[in-house]
Amino acid sequence: MKKILITGANGFVGSHLVVEALNRNYKVFASVRKTSNFSHLPLDKIQLVHPDLSDKNKLKEFFDSNETFDYIIHNAGVTKTCKKEVFDTVNYQYTKNLIEALRETGKIPQKYIQISSLAAYGPGDPISLKPVKDTDAPQPISLYGESKLKTEKYIKSIKDFPYLIFRPTGVYGPREQDFYIMFKSIKKGLETYIGTKKQYISLIYVKDLSRLLMDALESEVVHKSYFASDLHTYTAEEFNNRIKKALNAKTVQLVFPAKMVKYLTWLNEKLSCKLFGKIPTLNTEKFKEISQQNWLCDSSGLVYDFNFTPEYSLEEGIEETLNWYKENNLI
Ligand SMILES: NC(=O)c1ccc[n+]([C@@H]2O[C@H](COP(=O)([O-])OP(=O)(O)OC[C@H]3O[C@@H](n4cnc5c(N)ncnc54)[C@H](OP(=O)(O)O)[C@@H]3O)[C@@H](O)[C@H]2O)c1
Repeated sequence: MKKILITGANGFVGSHLVVEALNRNYKVFASVRKTSNFSHLPLDKIQLVHPDLSDKNKLKEFFDSNETFDYIIHNAGVTKTCKKEVFDTVNYQYTKNLIEALRETGKIPQKYIQISSLAAYGPGDPISLKPVKDTDAPQPISLYGESKLKTEKYIKSIKDFPYLIFRPTGVYGPREQDFYIMFKSIKKGLETYIGTKKQYISLIYVKDLSRLLMDALESEVVHKSYFASDLHTYTAEEFNNRIKKALNAKTVQLVFPAKMVKYLTWLNEKLSCKLFGKIPTLNTEKFKEISQQNWLCDSSGLVYDFNFTPEYSLEEGIEETLNWYKENNLI
């Protein structure tokens, strides 16, 4: 039985990776913090582990006291925070700790996957609308993106480490919490946009992403990086229309000027961080990203190297996601 370590196993993407790994009969070591909410994980089928990613020496003790994992997916990451320096600490420094600990203990897996983000490369040109390519010069526009890019550069500098890097686009599916806000808003009859220009986006359904990542682990390919999307191009309006159709909802379109949203976002973040120490979903770093027009990317490498085709159409993915929100009384 192959052993796989999945970090951030309780999170949205991580919990789906756990399910896919179990489907493939792996022995799953689900790495979570002691403070994490992991009640939704299949605790009878997995082994929970708590390696401290913040401390290289503790990580070395962890790897020394375990057999070598066949596969590792380093999925834990911070996507929003009140303290901006945390992006670098968690996304970059913790990854460095993890990889150094693996190398120093000689517990290097057969394959290591790093979950990066399209944000590491930043948006594409808003005029030409060309998809961002792996060979383009990365131009992240957020601190989150910068931290992911710094991590990628570090990993690529290690020549004898069997890594693959995946940069997912917008991932949607059961348990997701950011797109969920759109589902809720559309259910209430409000369809919101920033500015009047069309926004082009790429997406991937979380189960397609999980299947792709496991296929990549089992492949012979190493030392490469990919944008992970479902190979389609969408507009934000198309995405909203699909949700609208699935909900059988009627909506009013509200178009807010970018400057106004930027200011309200700033104010909301200031108040929420100061009063509750909690970063809102729509925050100043996120605003930089969601106000861009071109989030298209070239994922053709997935087809060449892993024969990837998505199993879910947007319609099917949205329907399954909505059903999950309904079953969990979230909508
Ligand atoms: N969702 C997307 O659309 C998307 C797109 C591109 C890339 N990604 C990447 O995919 C990965 C998973 O994201 P997600 O959407 O599933 O987010 P998520 O639901 O917030 O999950 C993040 C996971 O990382 C863990 N984590 C956060 N800070 C940590 C820390 N300081 N120490 C240890 N663990 C920590 C969380 O643990 P706790 O529960 O204990 O906080 C959680 O398990 C991230 O690396 C993210 O950058 C996501």
